[in-house]
Formats: sequence, C-alpha cells, structure tokens
Amino acid sequence: MNTFRTAVVRTPGGPDSIEIIDVPVAEPGPGEVRVKVAAAAVNPVDLAVAGGFFHSMGFIDQPDHTGLGWDFAGTVVAVGPGVDLAVGTRVAGLVGGFDRDFGTYAEQLVVPASDVAVVPDGLDLVVASTVPLNGLTAAQIVDLLGDAPTDGNRLLVTGAAGAVGGYVVSLAQDRGWRVTGLARAEDEEFVRSLGADFTAHAEPGWDAVADGATLQEQGLALVGDGGIFVGVRPGGEPPNQRGITVTAVDVRPDGVQLGGLLDRTASGELPARVHKVVPLDQVADVHRAVAKGGIRGRYVLKP
Ligand SMILES: NC(=O)c1ccc[n+]([C@@H]2O[C@H](COP(=O)([O-])OP(=O)(O)OC[C@H]3O[C@@H](n4cnc5c(N)ncnc54)[C@H](OP(=O)(O)O)[C@@H]3O)[C@@H](O)[C@H]2O)c1
Repeated sequence: MNTFRTAVVRTPGGPDSIEIIDVPVAEPGPGEVRVKVAAAAVNPVDLAVAGGFFHSMGFIDQPDHTGLGWDFAGTVVAVGPGVDLAVGTRVAGLVGGFDRDFGTYAEQLVVPASDVAVVPDGLDLVVASTVPLNGLTAAQIVDLLGDAPTDGNRLLVTGAAGAVGGYVVSLAQDRGWRVTGLARAEDEEFVRSLGADFTAHAEPGWDAVADGATLQEQGLALVGDGGIFVGVRPGGEPPNQRGITVTAVDVRPDGVQLGGLLDRTASGELPARVHKVVPLDQVADVHRAVAKGGIRGRYVLKP
C-alpha cells in the first residue's frame, strides 16, 4: 500500500506521547489538493494538543489518533475535480479545527484548494510555513478590532514579540490604530522595528487591547471604559465589564487572506522569523524546547 509518515498522539501525554506512524495516501476529492509538505511550523497550540488540554476540554474525540500541526508549506502533487491549481505549484495553508486524525506534521496532506494560497516566487517554503496560523489569526484579530474609531486611537498589543502579536502590531497600523507593543524588555528593538511604540509595563486606559500574550483578565483590566478587548481564547473570554466589547478570535482558513499575507511577507513588510529547521523525527525534542518558552521565531519541521 502507498503510505506516508505523520506525527500523531494516541493517548496525549506531552512530547513522550508523540509517535510517527505510516498512514495510507488519500486521493484529493472535488475541490481538494494533495500537497507534499516541505515545512510545518511548530506552534504553542500543538503542545496543548499533544498534552491533552483540548481532549480534556472535550474539543477532541478521536477513536484512534489525533493529528498534530496547523500550518504548512509545500508543493501540489495531485488535484481533485474542479481545482485550477497546477501540479507543482508551491502553496501554503492552514488546517483548522482541533478534532482531526491528520495534521501538518506529515509528509503529505489533502486539503481544500480554497484553504491554500500560492507562495510567491522568492519566498522560501520554510519561511512561508510560519505565516498561515499566526498571520491569519492576527489578520482576523484586526478584523474584529476594525478601523480605529478616530485616527490615532491607542491599541495595546500584548505579547508583541510573539508570532500572533508581532503580526497584529504590523497589521493594525494599516487600520488607523496607534500601536504600542507590550513585550519583554529584551524585545524592545524588535517591537520598535515594526513601527510601534514599546512598553514592558503597561498602565490601564487603552482604547483597545489585542491579547497575544493570553493575559486574559489582566489584559482586560488594561482596557479603558467602553473600549475593545480581543482575546485568543474563544469560549474562554474574560467576562465583560465597564462597557468593554469583549471578543476572541477563532482562526479559520482563508486562502485569499493568506495570499495577501504571503505577498507582504515576501516583500519584507511583515516579519518572518524562523528559529530553527529540524527533521520531523525530532518533533518530541522540539516540543520540549518550545515548552521552556522564550523562543523567538518558529521551529519548523521538515518531513
Ligand atoms: N484562538 C485562535 O484562533 C488562536 C490562533 C493562534 C494562536 N492562538 C493563541 O495565541 C497565543 C499566542 O500565540 P503565539 O504563537 O503568538 O505565541 P508566542 O509566539 O509564544 O508569543 C507569545 C508572546 O507573549 C510573550 N509574553 C507572555 N507573557 C507576557 C507578559 N506578561 N508580558 C509580555 N510578554 C509576554 C511571550 O514571551 P516569553 O516567550 O518570553 O514568555 C511571547 O513573546 C497562544 O496562546 C496561542 O495558542 C490562538
């Protein structure tokens, strides 16, 4: 049988529970493509899946195994009916949702063609693989924030040196927000390089807070009366208070929106940070390293 390798957890229990198994190659159905994965980024959510957090929340109920990994870049190797992407096209994409037996930590992947975007010439597939999850999350956070009510309204982005936060800092400025990044003192240069002001200790009173550091109640406390809070834990939003509009992003694949983000990454407008490229076999070690925190840029797995 034709098979490919993929990393999964059967009984989630952290890095030691990650297994690499062989699964059958599937052919793309109508509207789908099969991608040979060249690179898959490792994100905080993957550690939570491998650790069983989302199983314990009831978000994942897989009978056999759960797939790991949300974003990827690679090359189209087969197309289903109704798809106008050619075999050989370089693409990147996001696989959304928690409850699935497949993920992007894999040699191959079948996904809807509408969920992928063409990687521009000159943008490396390793770099491209770090864009979909966090770029789309940030763009969709900025969609929830909307345009600054008046030009120069003040937005605080927590975790501004992180993947989501760094993109929000960049993208929110296009919508008229005057952005300040809250990050560790050692991240000041990076945050300022994105065109934002910087703080390591924010005082309350912001028109809006985008909570990339997942500060939750502490982040909400920084919003002024009647302001806006956008979190990253859908379903786990802190209770609203003081007339604040409280929402949380729940990222979804969007090939068109992703195409714009990849173009802006290729042109250097958006930050692209790869920490290290590692073979898929070493995925458990990568999860252990990411769990320690403090890493800037993404680990990228090469199947
Ligand atoms: N809801 C959704 O659809 C969705 C989608 C994508 C991501 N997310 C979530 O969004 C969050 C951010 O993801 P990410 O990939 O951007 O994570 P990340 O790259 O690890 O960034 C988080 C950043 O916040 C910093 N930080 C944490 N506490 C801080 C504090 N008190 N003050 C200043 N900085 C602080 C971290 O610094 P240190 O490393 O030094 O601690 C890190 O730089 C995660 O919880 C992720 O699961 C949600």
